[in-house]
Amino acid sequence: MIFDRLSLKGKTAIVSGAGGGGIGTATSLILAEAGANIVAIDIQADRVNDTEAKVKAMGRDCLGIVADIREKAEVERAMGQSVKKFGAVHCLANVAGGMQPGQWGPLETYGDDTFDQVISLNLRYVFLISQAVAKQMIEKGISGSIASVASVSGIAGAPYHGPYGAAKAGLMALTRTMAVEWGYYGIRVNALAPGAVKTPRAMAGNTVDLDERAKGIIPIGRACQPDEIAAGLLFLLSPMASAVSGHTLVVDGGATAKFSLSGQASRYAPQGQVREAPRP
Ligand SMILES: NC(=O)c1ccc[n+]([C@@H]2O[C@H](COP(=O)([O-])OP(=O)(O)OC[C@H]3O[C@@H](n4cnc5c(N)ncnc54)[C@H](O)[C@@H]3O)[C@@H](O)[C@H]2O)c1
Repeated sequence: MIFDRLSLKGKTAIVSGAGGGGIGTATSLILAEAGANIVAIDIQADRVNDTEAKVKAMGRDCLGIVADIREKAEVERAMGQSVKKFGAVHCLANVAGGMQPGQWGPLETYGDDTFDQVISLNLRYVFLISQAVAKQMIEKGISGSIASVASVSGIAGAPYHGPYGAAKAGLMALTRTMAVEWGYYGIRVNALAPGAVKTPRAMAGNTVDLDERAKGIIPIGRACQPDEIAAGLLFLLSPMASAVSGHTLVVDGGATAKFSLSGQASRYAPQGQVREAPRP
């Protein structure tokens, strides 16, 4: 059956950055809906508790872990707790990342400490946690899958968020290398590059409504929702994507498909009307 190919029944999935009501929370819930037990990791205890409660309310088991995944010792502790609780880890969704409002700025005056912090949260930790999970998969003979959240900022220029774009571009490159090195163990590794997503963090950092701003820029006429990004991650982690590895799936409503000099998306719409794509 078609839904069997999306099923993660009996599997354990780690989600990093699982709290906050954004992409990590949506990913935890969709992976649980697909049948997986969840290890929900976040740096904020209240966020861990919230996601854990939501997953358990769906009838799945969930181990909430408060950890700073930028620290190798914390990653190893979380990995140990996960294996102790569930026996093995089959899937990893690397969602933690992003920029704080104070971390935006022009490169000519950008602080090197801030540069390192952004690289650490958006690239370095992905190496740390993917290494720990893959090592366990290789030792146990598990044909698992890993999917990490990149960004369209790693595909084009990233004005005023230079280290973020560089980190996400590095994440996509690392994904390809991990796919090549670990493919022989049956492990698939992919990335997903979202465009503008209406997460609580993104909305808090914007004075303009993301949907309003999207109208002239994004071909589908609106920003993406967290569950639309989570759906892409489920696809990449599930048997439905059994031959997909080393790939970056762009989920941006067509934003990066548009020729940059073409002006507003509405130019291509009949009578200049942009009809929003339906929401699920
Ligand atoms: N929101 C967007 O428009 C957008 C666009 C493109 C890419 N992304 C990417 O999607 C991912 C999720 O974005 P979001 O908007 O849902 O973010 P978010 O801030 O809502 O969620 C990230 C979660 O990660 C947690 N976290 C932060 N640092 C951590 C650490 N050191 N250890 C453990 N947990 C930590 C936070 O507490 C938070 O709950 C990020 O990687 C971001 O770069 C987001």
